[in-house]
Amino acid sequence: MPANKEFVNDIQAIRKRARSHIEQGAMTQGYSADRKTVIGILNDALATEIVCVLRYKRHYYMATGIHAKSVAAEFLEHANEEQGHADQIAMRIVQLGGAPDLAPDTLQSRSHSDYVEGSDLVEMLEEDLVAERIAIDTYRDIIAYLGNDDPTTRRMLETILASEEEHAEDLATLLKELGRKGEPAKERVRNVAANQ
Ligand SMILES: [Fe+2]
Ligand SMILES: [Fe+2]
Repeated sequence: MPANKEFVNDIQAIRKRARSHIEQGAMTQGYSADRKTVIGILNDALATEIVCVLRYKRHYYMATGIHAKSVAAEFLEHANEEQGHADQIAMRIVQLGGAPDLAPDTLQSRSHSDYVEGSDLVEMLEEDLVAERIAIDTYRDIIAYLGNDDPTTRRMLETILASEEEHAEDLATLLKELGRKGEPAKERVRNVAANQ
């Protein structure tokens, strides 16, 4: 059948192309995204994930109060999952022929979200929730930008996006639970600081 013949011809062309530039590994001529831009975008996402790991770790160590145990466990779980995202992204950068940028002095400036220490459980949860919401919107934009030009990177980011949405949901739930339990008197702390 003609359609089948055409397909065989394509395979032959692909076989021929595969033999040229084998040093480029997974990067074939069929890759239609702007490789350098994608690597740059992924490096910014990597910086964001590392800053998230550091912020969650800080919050894990600093969580105190009656309800700290369950919240701290959530912080640690998120920290480990953000590290997993960072690893996935770094590996993809290498696969694309780039190098993961983990230079500490520029991590914060390249990160989409901020590193906020937070003074109590509620503030920590709020800051983490803000960061997750920034990550969600950023990943959604990157996924839309990639479209069908780099399906592998897009699928990886879709999985990470789903994970960030779960994180945001977890944090929102914890915030509501803490609100019901009346912990802690955050507004008062803020007002004291504002009156100084
Ligand atoms: Fe993440
Ligand atoms: Fe997250």
